[in-house]
Amino acid sequence: MEVLEAIKTRRSIRHYKLDGVSDESLWQVLEAARWAPSWANTQCWHFVVVRDPSIKARIVELLRGNRAVQAVDEAPIVIVLVAQVGRSGFSGGVPATDKGEYWYMFDSALAMQNFILAAHALGLGTVIIGKIDTKEVEKLLGVPSGFRVVTMTPLGYPAENPSPRPRLDTSALVSFDKFELSV
Ligand SMILES: Cc1cc2nc3c(=O)[nH]c(=O)nc-3n(C[C@H](O)[C@H](O)[C@H](O)COP(=O)(O)O)c2cc1C
Repeated sequence: MEVLEAIKTRRSIRHYKLDGVSDESLWQVLEAARWAPSWANTQCWHFVVVRDPSIKARIVELLRGNRAVQAVDEAPIVIVLVAQVGRSGFSGGVPATDKGEYWYMFDSALAMQNFILAAHALGLGTVIIGKIDTKEVEKLLGVPSGFRVVTMTPLGYPAENPSPRPRLDTSALVSFDKFELSV
């Protein structure tokens, strides 16, 4: 699938088939994430591939109330993106910009975007999940201090084909030469 087509046709998938995901496909999408750009090529990301039903069940419990809870329950795999803090956005051990330590969020998003687009190109579904009790997930997965859970997504074959959610017109997002918000 062409990149532009993948960007335009990807949707958040919240219902999954029971079919498993081959190791080959899993490694292909992880490989796509690996090629994301990052601050000074620091690559602060780490992907925990959750397949153990008991760990997945606990994540489902922690996601109660989230629209994506059923997606995680149904999909055969959950990918949890963990980032190391204190590397992205840092220079000589101190934050290099007015954004402080938070560039790890930016780099993680780039890796996640690669991941979800590659998954879609292979016919796999994902939905980025941000509303998580990260502290509890960190405990569950044994994430050490200095690392933070950023986001997660189920990974599996879609059992739905949702319509596109609306987007603002491109012209409403853009100004030329000077910043200007169109009303
Ligand atoms: C940072 C971020 C956090 C999100 N968190 C959740 C979430 O917690 N639960 C959920 O069901 N969807 C979540 N989503 C999915 C968005 O709702 C979805 O991307 C948006 O509505 C656009 O729909 P689309 O992905 O199908 O184009 C999140 C998306 C992003 C980018």
